[in-house]
Amino acid sequence: MKNISKELFFGVLIILIIAGIIFYQSKNDQKITQKSASNKQESTISPAISSEESKKISVEEVKKHSKKEDCYMIIENKVYDLTSYIDSHPGGLIIARFCGKDGTGAFNARGKEKEPHSPKARELLKKYYLADLEK
Ligand code: HEM
Repeated sequence: MKNISKELFFGVLIILIIAGIIFYQSKNDQKITQKSASNKQESTISPAISSEESKKISVEEVKKHSKKEDCYMIIENKVYDLTSYIDSHPGGLIIARFCGKDGTGAFNARGKEKEPHSPKARELLKKYYLADLEK
């Protein structure tokens, strides 16, 4: 009798473990299908996002942001919002002279130094990209 109840106990235990594993796996499968469904959703909304990204800014609009406290700059036909960068620029406030303007020449010649900015500076510039310039 003792042996039978022992077997019964282990039998029930094994069934419970198997049921637990099946339950856990089915939960996981659900999560994966939910995830792939939301991924699909993302890919359907991405065209809307990219059309937003392709918004262009005109020279007239750039001109409206010509102060150190509100500074847009055109560099190589792209518009950057450099407002938050001006104060940490290693070259000092000379950069602010080009707010609201096309700073391509100044950027490529580092002002009067006639030497281009480093690749690091170019990389940094990307952080401030707003939009392409409307032609
Ligand atoms: C368009 C007007 C700009 C002018 C006239 C200008 C001028 C200068 C000058 C004269 C220096 C040399 C400082 C020194 O070594 O003592 C310098 C350095 C530097 N500038 Fe500008 N700058 C301009 C725009 C920018 C922009 C838009 C960025 C990046 C967002 C930038 C990032 C840097 C960096 C990182 C340095 C350190 C040296 C290097 O990595 O090339 N500058 N700048």
